[in-house]
Amino acid sequence: MSDSENAMEARICKIRQVATDIVSIELEAASSNALPSFSAGSHVDVHVSERIVRQYSLCNDPASSRHYRLAVLNEINSRGGSRTVHETFREGMVVRIGRPRNNFELVEDGGHAILLAGGIGITPLLSMAYRLQAIGAEFEFHLCVRSLDRAPFLDEIASAPFGSRFRLHVDDGPTEQRFQPDRDLCEVGPRTSVYICGPKGFMDFAVSAARKAGCLEDRLHTENFSGGDLKGGNSFTVIASRSGRRLVVPSEKSIAAVLEENGISVDLSCEQGICGTCLTRVLKGQPEHRDSFQTAAEKQRNDRVAICCSRSTSEELVLDI
Ligand code: FES
Repeated sequence: MSDSENAMEARICKIRQVATDIVSIELEAASSNALPSFSAGSHVDVHVSERIVRQYSLCNDPASSRHYRLAVLNEINSRGGSRTVHETFREGMVVRIGRPRNNFELVEDGGHAILLAGGIGITPLLSMAYRLQAIGAEFEFHLCVRSLDRAPFLDEIASAPFGSRFRLHVDDGPTEQRFQPDRDLCEVGPRTSVYICGPKGFMDFAVSAARKAGCLEDRLHTENFSGGDLKGGNSFTVIASRSGRRLVVPSEKSIAAVLEENGISVDLSCEQGICGTCLTRVLKGQPEHRDSFQTAAEKQRNDRVAICCSRSTSEELVLDI
């Protein structure tokens, strides 16, 4: 399904400040058609402006998908998306969004779950907490923040049925309440799934702590909010197999940019290697994967490449485009 066929309109019915620099935005159907249901961990593409599309996790209870709720942090290093949301989104506005997609699914196999959120990374995990509670799963839910004013949804969580499973860890608070892997991950066992979401520094810390605690690789689930280092690398030639055109990708440009400059249209969304929209089939050659969307096993197969950020270690890369 193309991006435009996938898009629909939704009305902003409520905007609320839920923490310093964070607003929650509730969306309802803009037509008589109900919004499609979603599963915990899903995100939607939001057309923030004519030129900007960003992905935001749905953070409400997936059992009540009559509306969608997002939470958006006004990031200091915003590439324009979050700042535009904060400055221009108002109640009553109609915005274009994509259908929910889930790259961060819950494994509902009766095992124990640990949800580990850093700051705004709480969004998909809050939706997961509702779902885990609904299916009677054993789980714990941790939120780590720099300071108390940066912790969103605390009132809601306190009165939620899973409130007693929640632990808040504040960096500038007393030592004993800070997140301590030896104590807070001591329950990790072979049937424990750990779900981690947050900014890069937090992700690096939490992923390594979960591994150290004994979490099995296939039970470690992550969602990144920012891509890795996407710039630079050797130049190489990309061959667009459908037209046979050979195009040089210089070190300072992405494959997608070169294709578009040469009139070959590509589907793009996050342009950071996060969302998977631009994945393109590889027919020949060796990609140098820089995306955080594909799993390690998928990258090893080398049959798809994220053309917004990845490059090639072979001199030529033949793509099904
Ligand atoms: S556009 Fe999102 S991964 Fe490439």
